[in-house]
Amino acid sequence: MSAEGRTVLITGAGRGIGFATARAFAEAGCRVLSLDKQFGDDVIGERVDYDLRDIAGIPTLIGQMGAIDTLVNNAAVLYCEPYDAIPEEHVTEIITVNLRAPVAMIEALAPQMRQRKSGRIVNVGSVSAFTGHPDLWYGATKAALLNITKSYAAELGSSGVFVNAVAPGPTLTAMYEQLPQSRKDAVMRSVHVGRPCNPEEVARVIVWLGTDSPDYVSGTTVDVNSGSYPR
Ligand SMILES: NC(=O)c1ccc[n+]([C@@H]2O[C@H](COP(=O)([O-])OP(=O)(O)OC[C@H]3O[C@@H](n4cnc5c(N)ncnc54)[C@H](O)[C@@H]3O)[C@@H](O)[C@H]2O)c1
Repeated sequence: MSAEGRTVLITGAGRGIGFATARAFAEAGCRVLSLDKQFGDDVIGERVDYDLRDIAGIPTLIGQMGAIDTLVNNAAVLYCEPYDAIPEEHVTEIITVNLRAPVAMIEALAPQMRQRKSGRIVNVGSVSAFTGHPDLWYGATKAALLNITKSYAAELGSSGVFVNAVAPGPTLTAMYEQLPQSRKDAVMRSVHVGRPCNPEEVARVIVWLGTDSPDYVSGTTVDVNSGSYPR
């Protein structure tokens, strides 16, 4: 199925990479459902107000939406706190939003995609999945999400449902802006093109994986990081 006419659900679409991704899918002719707990003035497509910390409500939410052709699990949280002093509620939030919610979304959507023998799922990981991260739980959830991408690709691939991931490097969004300058400097020293990534560049890869990448691309992670794996 080409991009035209697809229904695409994007989490964390209120700003940043999710917003750019929503706009790119809309420009490709898709019907876009933008999910977030917080929106600015601009919303791409249909607005879905939802807080992904409510894992138990996800099956009902998905049940109300009808057919979804592509799911983009993009929403995540990161806290810049000392690794040995991360408050318990932040640990819970990071694991819930970054890991449990994407799994719950996939679980809720897999039956309808399986039935139609068609579907695309794109998980947004991070280069920190490979390198570790000062926010221990952030890095750990991203590594787990890439592992889960492979598990679901194996589980759903024979039903025509293709699950892949992107692993962005430093990308100009609010999440990047909150990093300490020392980390931004370290990251900038290691990127090949000498600048942070634009959200639109990540979005182009997500749209490809979410629409017309070859069916043989399954369970993989596309690194969008200018060849940089900073510590
Ligand atoms: N910006 C980077 O440098 C970078 C690098 C690697 C990976 N990523 C990944 O890219 C994705 C998008 O990040 P971004 O940089 O655009 O971040 P961002 O903080 O700008 O946007 C994240 C969005 O997720 C939403 N969100 C957070 N918690 C939510 C919840 N409980 N319920 C619903 N929505 C929620 C936020 O409201 C926000 O709109 C994330 O998965 C992030 O881990 C970003």
